[in-house]
Amino acid sequence: MQARALQARAAGQTVGLTPTMGALHEGHLSLVRTARRENEFVVVSLFVNPTQFGPSEDFDRYPRDFAGDRRKLESEGVDVLYAPPVGEIYKPGFQTYVEVEELGKRLDGASRPGHFRGVATVVAKLFHIAQPHRAYFGQKDAAQLAVIRRLVRDLDFPIEIVACPIVREPDGLAMSSRNAYLGAEERRAAAVLYRSLTQARRCYESGERSGPSLRGTLLDTLASEPLARVDYAEVVDPDSLLPLARVDRRALAAVAAWFGATRLIDNVLLG
Ligand code: PAJ
Repeated sequence: MQARALQARAAGQTVGLTPTMGALHEGHLSLVRTARRENEFVVVSLFVNPTQFGPSEDFDRYPRDFAGDRRKLESEGVDVLYAPPVGEIYKPGFQTYVEVEELGKRLDGASRPGHFRGVATVVAKLFHIAQPHRAYFGQKDAAQLAVIRRLVRDLDFPIEIVACPIVREPDGLAMSSRNAYLGAEERRAAAVLYRSLTQARRCYESGERSGPSLRGTLLDTLASEPLARVDYAEVVDPDSLLPLARVDRRALAAVAAWFGATRLIDNVLLG
């Protein structure tokens, strides 16, 4: 993969990388299409990264559909689908990890200890392997985006991080590979995530600037759905991921909740 990417660069092509864990949906494909438009050589990585899953999480049952993913990426005109086996990424004796110390412990990092260490490590490796000029990430995983932007700054990767908007189902639910886990009742209930964010945005647009009050709106709306068990609901600075007392600059309203055994996240930017 690295040799092929270096060859493309030597030939003067710009390289775009979209990292994924597969089970591709329209959210992933929107990133791939943006990468295709903006670069001459497009790499999509497909790797269900064991180090970003906790011991009691869903690594073993994470949805996998290699044949379907490959077909979708072929019809998007991707140049390389890079789908390494686990042993190629984590060779015997592997012991070097990348940790974004403070950011990695906030939002999803607080609920999923070690998660962002696994993400930062695999993304740093994918950057070295695929040698991209630009890398494409979804706004859907807003904390991940903050961690990766910090990683790129801190370790001087000469890579432009491109954030792409959230792609949603008709009822507002953000597309996610994990939506496949939901039963019919849970699927209906999951729409409360986006409803809570829409409510908070409405309050913001009517002039509400108190962080705790906007957070209260998120929590009240989430509480109206008995099948939702809240993990977090926060109004934070999109770079530091720290809670804002006053929303007098751009802010991120972010929620995470459990529906049965499935944990889903969503967010909107305010301002
Ligand atoms: P995965 O969950 O497969 O997501 C791959 C990329 O697709 C991420 O950048 C994610 O934010 C984006 N994405 C997912 N759903 C989206 C939606 N509804 N709209 C827009 N973008 C969406 O995120 C990961 O994989 C992994 O952590 C990874 C970065 C590949 C490292 O292992």
